[in-house]
Amino acid sequence: MNESVSSNHTEVSQDKLRELIASAEVAFNKAYAPYSQFRVGAAALTNENTIVLGCNVENASYGLTVCAERNCIAQGVINNTKSDDVKFSAIVIYTNQEKLTPPCGACRQVIAEFFPANASVMAVNHLKHRQSWTVSQLLPDAFTPQDLLNKN
Ligand code: THU
Repeated sequence: MNESVSSNHTEVSQDKLRELIASAEVAFNKAYAPYSQFRVGAAALTNENTIVLGCNVENASYGLTVCAERNCIAQGVINNTKSDDVKFSAIVIYTNQEKLTPPCGACRQVIAEFFPANASVMAVNHLKHRQSWTVSQLLPDAFTPQDLLNKN
């Protein structure tokens, strides 16, 4: 496979993809995961062509843990300088697991809020293995802001 993400996916250049992967690794190294030891880093490309990072942040009250992907999206929201809401075109998730880590169900829902259906979600690991999906492959028929427009 070519290194860039295209076809059904939003086009992301090879350079940007490399940058996203390197950024996701930086985020991985910042993970706060003392309970699970399962470190996750994420990096997303915004519509302003900037990269935002997030890592998982666990808590002694385990259920309060926040995943890397959702922290990454929150970073994009806070860094947004446009008057429009932030949008993203790709996200990379980095772990040191041999089995690549796809986003959990909660993160898929939050990704669907901010990414177009054809945006790329790529899992990578320390062995440079990669797998990518579109948002709609991960969460078909997602409930999105559009659904709220038709409320009675
Ligand atoms: N985790 C993520 O950060 N992203 C995922 O998509 C899957 C799970 C984190 C949450 C928790 O800190 C650890 O991985 C183990 O579940």
